[in-house]
Amino acid sequence: MRIIRTITEMQKQMQQLKSEGKSIGYVPTMGFLHEGHISLMNRARLENDAVVLSIFVNPLQFGPAEDLDAYPRDFERDHEIAENQGVDYIFYPSVEEMYPDNASVKVSVVDRTNVLCGKSRPGHFDGVATVLIKLFNIILPTRAYFGLKDAQQVAVVDGLIRDFNFPIELIPVETVREEDGLAKSSRNVYLSDDERQQAVELSKSLEMARLAIERGERSPDEVVGMMRHHIKENTTGTVDYVEIYSYPELGEMETLKGKVLIALAVKFSKARLIDNTILEVE
Ligand code: PAF
Repeated sequence: MRIIRTITEMQKQMQQLKSEGKSIGYVPTMGFLHEGHISLMNRARLENDAVVLSIFVNPLQFGPAEDLDAYPRDFERDHEIAENQGVDYIFYPSVEEMYPDNASVKVSVVDRTNVLCGKSRPGHFDGVATVLIKLFNIILPTRAYFGLKDAQQVAVVDGLIRDFNFPIELIPVETVREEDGLAKSSRNVYLSDDERQQAVELSKSLEMARLAIERGERSPDEVVGMMRHHIKENTTGTVDYVEIYSYPELGEMETLKGKVLIALAVKFSKARLIDNTILEVE
């Protein structure tokens, strides 16, 4: 496995792979790797000749009230995990390497961002889109792997790839779950024992929604109401949102039909958990 820190060297290596007709599977991350990332690396390893992981804590996607310096970092651990998953290259640039000057072009994501987590993080997806445009041009991936735990990010990347004509296949990867159904997250460690027991009710509420829709429910308001009620009755968490949109457009729906995202965010005392499911509704 090679660790590359400069854009010039990374592009050179990737162009070489391309000229040899090799496919490149790319997993973009901000490091501090967890099981979600491991499932992305595994999938990329299965489907490509070469696997590239980038580790870059992107300052542009942090808001003024979000602590960039407090973001967890552990390169030695990440390096070991990547090596064990058969990653071929880690791209590990500095902030100066990625953003050397004041930019003369700004990227603004104008759709799919004013709902869900995007609503409370203005500018966040502009930062994500900016860094991904750069990373896609540096790494030249054949396929890019993103976790569906952040379904809104996947929707934004889908728009980005389409609008900017990147010759990249977007591969959304299913959320990794604990045995009881709780979506794996580095934030789960901040739950008290009681809250950890209760947190399973979040995935249960998504399952209840799925069953209700399977039995014929087509009203988004009914499904949202039922899920809110279940979470309120069975946890001490505060519902931040339970929302339903068409996917990946993230448009409002009067009747459930087609590909549908059901997403929730719930605040516990020290952790805000998110989860979602995507269903195909007849
Ligand atoms: O999901 C993340 O870790 C980041 O948003 C990403 C895609 C690596 C861009 O910085």
